[in-house]
Amino acid sequence: MREFVVFSRTGHTGPGFKSLREGGRLDLVYQSILMSLFKSHGIRRDTVFRAFLGGPPNPPLELIVDGSQLRDARTDEVTWEHILRNVLDGREHPGVSLRRNSFQAFLKERQGIYVLEESGESIRTVELGENPCFVLGDQVGLPRKEEKFALRAGTKVSLGGTLYMTCQCINIINYTLDLREVREG
Ligand SMILES: C[S@@+](CC[C@H](N)C(=O)[O-])C[C@H]1O[C@@H](n2cnc3c(N)ncnc32)[C@H](O)[C@@H]1O
Repeated sequence: MREFVVFSRTGHTGPGFKSLREGGRLDLVYQSILMSLFKSHGIRRDTVFRAFLGGPPNPPLELIVDGSQLRDARTDEVTWEHILRNVLDGREHPGVSLRRNSFQAFLKERQGIYVLEESGESIRTVELGENPCFVLGDQVGLPRKEEKFALRAGTKVSLGGTLYMTCQCINIINYTLDLREVREG
C-alpha cells in the first residue's frame, strides 16, 4: 500500500469557495489527488491520499481519498471541484471522506513515515518499508514545527536539488515505486 499526505495550511474546510484555487489553494490538493490515484485508464486501488486542511471555516479537517473505494470520478478539475464541495458540505461520495483530525494526531498512529525534503536521502537509494507514507508540504512548504514532528519517527527523502510542485513530487514517487516493483518482480 502507498499513502500520500499533504499538509495544506490554507485549504478551505467548508463548501463556500468560488474556485478550487480561491479555496485556499484546493487546486493543489486536487492536483495531488490526481497524481496520487490516477493512471491512464485506471485508479491505483492500493493507494490512499490524505490532505490535512487548515483553512477556514472549520479546521483542522482530514480529507481522505481511498483508491480502493473511489468510484464515479473523472480526472478533470470541474469534477473534483464538485466532489470536494459536496463532501465539504456534508454529502457523500464513494471513496472520499472527511474527519476531524490533526496532522500530528495522524502521525502519532502511523509508522513508515517519509518526509519529502530536498536535503534528505535520495528516493533512489532509501529503504522503504511495505506501506510507505509520504508526507509533503503545500505551496509554501511544510511548516517547521510540523516537519520536526513528522521527523520524530520519519525519514527525510529527497528527489534531488530541483524544487518541484507538490503534485510533481507525488508523480515522481509513484513512478519510482512502479519501477522498483517491476525490478523486484
Ligand atoms: C512547492 S514545494 C514547497 C516550496 C517551498 N517554497 C519550500 O521551499 O519548501 C512543496 C513540497 O514539495 C516537496 N518537494 C519539492 N521539491 C522537492 C525535492 N526536490 N525533494 C523532496 N521534496 C521536494 C516538499 O515536501 C515541499 O514541501
